[in-house]
Amino acid sequence: METKKELVVSAIKDGTVIDHIPAKSLFKVISTLELNNIETPITIGFNLESKKLGKKGIIKISDKFPNDNDLNKIALFAPEAKINIIRNYEVVEKKVVQLPDTIEGIVKCMNPKCITNFEEVKTKFTVIDKKNVALKCRYCEKITSQENFEMK
Ligand code: CTP
Ligand code: ZN
Repeated sequence: METKKELVVSAIKDGTVIDHIPAKSLFKVISTLELNNIETPITIGFNLESKKLGKKGIIKISDKFPNDNDLNKIALFAPEAKINIIRNYEVVEKKVVQLPDTIEGIVKCMNPKCITNFEEVKTKFTVIDKKNVALKCRYCEKITSQENFEMK
């Protein structure tokens, strides 16, 4: 028997749906994607029920499609998120976010003595743990992990 699914956040016609964002990461994803500077309609759901995550967040961005840098940003803050590309109300593509081997910019090195924190130097990290997201600084070798991420 078919059960009727009700959308808590309305469907969109064209754009990107970032789904299955752990609730604790929702505002970090909003911030890193700089959604406050976007002109197109955005709808956001917070603390929605999820079988897998307990509570999840969802972001629907009309008429915008993510580039590789956006996907890297999402992967850093919400590696379990699912990206759905919507065209004419249909899901035409599902993208899995994957962390690259290196990350440049986006987050700060948590070592206060690191050169990247007192000079105009872009941060550069080697991704040493893709599951729990841990980054090793190329300059000072200190490790910054997900719970310590601050936007650069
Ligand atoms: N969605 C949307 N607008 C559309 C089509 C889909 O906002 N026009 C949203 C759905 O609400 C859902 C996500 O895009 O949050 C993915 O849609 P769909 O693949 O149909 O959902 P599921 O089968 O639940 O996929 P998954 O389990 O992979 O999340
Ligand atoms: Zn450093």
